[in-house]
Amino acid sequence: MNFEIKYKDARARLGILTTSHGKIRTPALMPVVHPGRQTLPVKEHGAEIVITNAYLIYKNEELRERALQEGVHGLLDFSGPIVTDSGSFQLSTYGEVEVSNPEIIKFQEAIGTDIGTSLDLPTPPDVTKKRAERDLEVTLERAREALEVRENLTLNSVVQGSTYPDLRERCAQELASMDFEVHPIGAVVPLMESYRYRELVEVVMASVEHLPDSRPRHLMGAGHPMVFALAVAMGCDLFDSAAYILYAQDDRLLMPDGTHKLENLVEMPCSCEVCRTYTPQDLINKKKEERTLLLAQHNLAISFAEIRQIRQAIVEGSLWELVEQRCRAHPYLLDALRKLVTYSPQIEKYDPPYKKSAFFYSGSESLNRPEVHRHWEKVRNLPRKEAVLLLPPVTKPYSQNLHPYLGIAYGRGACEGMLTGKLDLQLAVVDVPFGVIPLELDQVYPLAQNETPTIMDTEARLQVKRMVEEYLEGYATVLVASSLVKRYELDITEQVTVVDPISMDTHDLKRVRMIADYQFQPGAGEALFDDQVRVVKSRKTGKIRHLYQGEDLIATLRASDGVLVLAVLGARKLHQHLPYPVNRVVVNEEAEPFAREGKSIFAKFVINCDIDIRAQEEVLIVNSEDELLAFGKSLLNGREITDFKTGQAVKTRKGGF
Ligand code: GUN
Ligand code: ZN
Repeated sequence: MNFEIKYKDARARLGILTTSHGKIRTPALMPVVHPGRQTLPVKEHGAEIVITNAYLIYKNEELRERALQEGVHGLLDFSGPIVTDSGSFQLSTYGEVEVSNPEIIKFQEAIGTDIGTSLDLPTPPDVTKKRAERDLEVTLERAREALEVRENLTLNSVVQGSTYPDLRERCAQELASMDFEVHPIGAVVPLMESYRYRELVEVVMASVEHLPDSRPRHLMGAGHPMVFALAVAMGCDLFDSAAYILYAQDDRLLMPDGTHKLENLVEMPCSCEVCRTYTPQDLINKKKEERTLLLAQHNLAISFAEIRQIRQAIVEGSLWELVEQRCRAHPYLLDALRKLVTYSPQIEKYDPPYKKSAFFYSGSESLNRPEVHRHWEKVRNLPRKEAVLLLPPVTKPYSQNLHPYLGIAYGRGACEGMLTGKLDLQLAVVDVPFGVIPLELDQVYPLAQNETPTIMDTEARLQVKRMVEEYLEGYATVLVASSLVKRYELDITEQVTVVDPISMDTHDLKRVRMIADYQFQPGAGEALFDDQVRVVKSRKTGKIRHLYQGEDLIATLRASDGVLVLAVLGARKLHQHLPYPVNRVVVNEEAEPFAREGKSIFAKFVINCDIDIRAQEEVLIVNSEDELLAFGKSLLNGREITDFKTGQAVKTRKGGF
């Protein structure tokens, strides 16, 4: 037998298990096949590996003889890998079995089982610790004995220890030091039957943590698809399902989010063949045996579908999201999730830090995911600069969208300049769920690749507040954006200065006003652009393109040189603001109608002109009464316009005034 890991997510492994009867993909579901009265052809319904009970074969003379002759593969008419259990379950149900441990090991070897099991003691939950310890010694003794007895049988060795995590841990440690190939985790059926998922997590985590990573783990008796994702995320690779048939016999349908009683259904719950073909009433009307088979078929189909979805999620790196969804199906599963995140420090060691899919926040439990734990451990230990500026979150990646808020310098280069410059200031964004994100890291997975709801929950607020407070302990000088103080109700100590980042709007306004002052003369900016100016930006570059007053264009900021090009309203405003003859070209009566029509102005018609005009400037064209006729771009400077008697002086943009 050989086991190989191909993909990982959380503590999950997507692996290939190679047996002498072929390779299977894990996580895998092994339908329980009854050796004597199997009625559903599980292979046709997707089984790549099955499990059966060697004890039931052993005890029935006819089955035993057939198995010894044809092998267990012949008996079950299944050519893929077959796992056999030892009779321990019968032992736990009936108190005794009529076979010894060496006998059942030898028998499993004789019938050619792919993975056999020793006769462990499935110790129930809640027994006294003394009893659990006594049982454990027997289980371990039988495990050792199995190793001595087997010649070439691949062996399961079951972790026991009741509901005592320390005993599970000890058992796992002992078994890990021995030469077994597969490790089931046993005696969890009673926990699952009574929805004690939280303790299931404790038991599985205590076991898995001490089992060798190179051996597959089988969560024994776990056949409800509701727990598959959770168990896989904890590192379980194999499941067996008798549930598909047991629930069917009881007229119940398995679904990944719970169980349905057939009598309560008005609609079938999935789109498997059975659910597509029959209505609940059709099934109720059928004979018991036929109905059981049809329900079993649905149960198997939905269970395999869940396993496939889990394998897909592991490859994508979205298993945790799936676990969070599944664990919302029942409050006690939510308990399991809440328990699971207490193991985040351990799980983090197995969880790949970089994944294909984004981190999705699905509720306050996400705050304690392994990824958050990892980031926090790393970021807390980074070297500190002299001072820190905590910024509010913007669209990710933060550094590309933060510069309008900084109000420190213009343009996209601002942040980068600060990041690389001499200033020993740490810029960091505060956000849910990762707490503090230094801007240098804002493109690193999963700090940019995560989504959280826009409405924050209280737990998130409290956790981020705690993180910020802890992070700030390393700094003497702290600047905090005022919006963060409000949002997280941060305490303001002496070390903290609250800053108001300049908002995008006022930032843009300052920018265009200054350009106008620079281009025309001081004061032109305010004259052209009042506080209500509407800024339209290029979607592609994010640069300012047009400036409007309501629906009227004032000016356009030319992309090539960043200069304001006037529109009608801008020309009017500028004309009103600038005293005569500033920025004006004055034409005679003869030229006036042409100017009004928007025709270009020839030098010979110019009777006066602002001598300070340069070529290529935005100029106003007026008559001798200083009535605005048109506006345009000067082609010559003021002196030249006055001096020349031929050729164009101004290229008119627009007349019509
Ligand atoms: N099937 C379900 N639980 C158990 C267990 O604890 N041990 C064995 N051998 N089989 C099981
Ligand atoms: Zn179905």
